Amino acid sequence: MKEITISTKIKVYESAEELPAEYQRLLESARAARNHAYAPYSNFRVGAAVLLENGTILQGANLENAAYSMCICAERTALGNAAMHYPQSVVKAIAVTVKSKRKTIAQPASPCGACRQVISEAEDRQKKDIAIILQGAEGEIYVLDSGKALLPIGFHGGFL
Ligand code: THU
Repeated sequence: MKEITISTKIKVYESAEELPAEYQRLLESARAARNHAYAPYSNFRVGAAVLLENGTILQGANLENAAYSMCICAERTALGNAAMHYPQSVVKAIAVTVKSKRKTIAQPASPCGACRQVISEAEDRQKKDIAIILQGAEGEIYVLDSGKALLPIGFHGGFL
């Protein structure tokens, strides 16, 4: 028997002002994207913004549906937006932020498992990691070097 320990490095920032300028801009864009969320069922607005290598930022927000399982997350909306408008461009980073009608979320937003899987595949496809920037409605900001840091031992195309 042997044991494997998997560790995750997270940079924790007290406020957006501490972030590198391009991540500040990206997080600001993710916040603005929350205004485009369609979340009448959860009242939980998620905004995402994707930074391309050419400096372009594309937004995404969660889009809900009365048939709940049809809901699309903000992260996937943003990545799809980038893939359609800039199919050749590499995604450098994605920022995610949330806002609930019911309570103040002061801890970093945590992408769901499906979105982690999609971010991981985007990294495989472009052969480059995507930095992840997470904030709630306020409070600390987490920065991770890659989507895979959020999804260790993930399923990937190499198995097929
Ligand atoms: N949601 C996202 O947009 N991203 C995530 O990573 C987690 C959840 C959305 C889906 C749904 O519209 C709402 O948040 C509540 O689950």
